[in-house]
Amino acid sequence: MNQEEIVVSIKNANLEYDSEKGKVLALKDANLDIKKGEFICVLGPSGCGKSTLLNIIAGFHKPTSGSATMGGKVINGPNWKRGVVFQTPPLYPWLNIYDNVAFGPKKRRLPKKEIEENVNKYLELVGLKDFKKQKPYELSGGMRQRCSLARVLVNQPEMILMDEPLGALDALTRTNMQALIREIWNKTGNTIFFITHDVDEALSLATRVVVMSARPGRIVKEFNTEFTYDIGGANQEAARYSREYVAIREEILSIINTQNAVSRGEAVS
Ligand SMILES: Nc1ncnc2c1ncn2[C@@H]1O[C@H](COP(=O)(O)OP(=O)(O)OP(=O)(O)O)[C@@H](O)[C@H]1O
Ligand SMILES: [Mg+2]
Repeated sequence: MNQEEIVVSIKNANLEYDSEKGKVLALKDANLDIKKGEFICVLGPSGCGKSTLLNIIAGFHKPTSGSATMGGKVINGPNWKRGVVFQTPPLYPWLNIYDNVAFGPKKRRLPKKEIEENVNKYLELVGLKDFKKQKPYELSGGMRQRCSLARVLVNQPEMILMDEPLGALDALTRTNMQALIREIWNKTGNTIFFITHDVDEALSLATRVVVMSARPGRIVKEFNTEFTYDIGGANQEAARYSREYVAIREEILSIINTQNAVSRGEAVS
């Protein structure tokens, strides 16, 4: 596998929304090449344009100017090759867990046997194989999020986009989900674009952390990090307290604090 293979490329992308109050520039001159197998975590102040950038990659929005391409082709709309996991899992309440996960492959009219094998494989991977017959309302928030992850994985996407997927979970469930997502990333070699508000979450998962400015969102700084390998291993605590981790964490927090002040309209020296 060519480690440098670029999956998605964003070039000079701007996005302006037309709202009742007039035009809102949400994203400014975004440039980002996402390489195969990368785990990108995006941080930035609230309302800075993180979801806007994700929605462009997903194909929900087209940049007003500039471009978004996947494998060299312009992204023209949503596609199962780019699976999206939202903060609130959009599961069908009338379908059980198995059928929720099987929904996409059935729609794509894959052979029945292949659907069955894949649904079972990914339900097992996310730890839900004993809950196939349950309806979403019978599951906890963490389990629903695992189901929504299986629903994306079953399509074997080239990229997984996650918009604050763990934001609504309690601290312990959140840590368990981080470990699960890291494990899935390790096993599938997938490319992940993950938005979070939590600096420690970003540093414990990412191979690259992208920090955005206050709106209009620009990418202000990127950090190549490898803490995920240690945090996933036996040296968890040592990794979190290492001098390098603490220094990067402080630098990111300082950028975000500055940008928060900018969005509040305060003068920043
Ligand atoms: N459909 C829309 N129409 C008009 N303005 C929008 C629309 N969607 C987003 N915006 C505005 O664009 C800006 C960026 O929004 P976006 O949702 O991308 O931010 P975000 O960084 O994801 O915020 P949060 O951290 O709160 O999720 C915000 O000022 C928002 O109000
Ligand atoms: Mg958002």
